[in-house]
Amino acid sequence: MSQIAELKALRGKATGSVGLVPTMGYLHDGHLALVRQARDENEAVVVSIFVNPTQFGAGEDFASYPRDHERDLALLKEERVDIVFVPPVEEMYPAGFCSGVEVGRVTERLEGVSRPGHFRGVATVVAKLFNIVEPTRAYFGQKDAQQAVVIERMVADLNMNLEIVIAPTVREPDGLAMSSRNIHLNSEERRAALVLWRALSLAQQLFSQGERQAESIRHRMSALIQEEPLASIDYVSIAGAASLEELATIEGPALVSLAVRIGSTRLIDNIVLGG
Ligand code: PAJ
Repeated sequence: MSQIAELKALRGKATGSVGLVPTMGYLHDGHLALVRQARDENEAVVVSIFVNPTQFGAGEDFASYPRDHERDLALLKEERVDIVFVPPVEEMYPAGFCSGVEVGRVTERLEGVSRPGHFRGVATVVAKLFNIVEPTRAYFGQKDAQQAVVIERMVADLNMNLEIVIAPTVREPDGLAMSSRNIHLNSEERRAALVLWRALSLAQQLFSQGERQAESIRHRMSALIQEEPLASIDYVSIAGAASLEELATIEGPALVSLAVRIGSTRLIDNIVLGG
């Protein structure tokens, strides 16, 4: 289904709970875990597939973002999804469109620093999807930890009438977080990409051994990543899991997150310590 009016008409007929899973497609098991949870918890499930141009910066990978519509539809059919919403860009951003949702503080660090305007694009398209679908619950992955914080903030601040559910990160057997962008990695880069998980595992190990000084953990993680010649660090962060402010000492739940370029592919991952 590609038209907003058509989706709204169908939504009007639903009597029970509706779960929404927003995606940009090229689906993998991380997406499908969200779909399955939505299926378990709601009477109807809507999945959106929309590679949202406004959340990509100039020089980012909007044009080369992987797309495989036929495969995505087949996977979602197997999951018994009720509605797959695949709007064209002009349907979401018709001529004259000029509004946006600006979330403050929590967008100003981490991904927000490296990708200015990214979260304005995300918050705006997600708010639009919420207004179009009017879901009872919407499902997001911990893989994009800051995105989850931003969406929760937006829903609380703007009194949006739905529940946000955050699901754990799904990983490959060796630990690499599943991502649509992993398809861009050649075999050398795929091996090198494991350095993200190795750095997060090191943080977990140091924390388990009693280390609470964030800078000491950041330093050890960075040193490990720098040993990998194909990797270049964008950031390594240990921040309050809700505030996203960098920590000196780990006391409450801490979000350990990182962005690393492997060749020309930018990957992100995270874990929570002391949660
Ligand atoms: P996309 O990257 O396609 O991800 C869609 C949803 O799947 C997001 O909530 C993301 O956190 C989750 N996800 C991705 N990889 C995952 C993994 N390995 N384990 C668990 N969940 C995973 O995130 C977006 O699209 C967009 O920004 C969107 C929210 C759709 C707005 O355009």
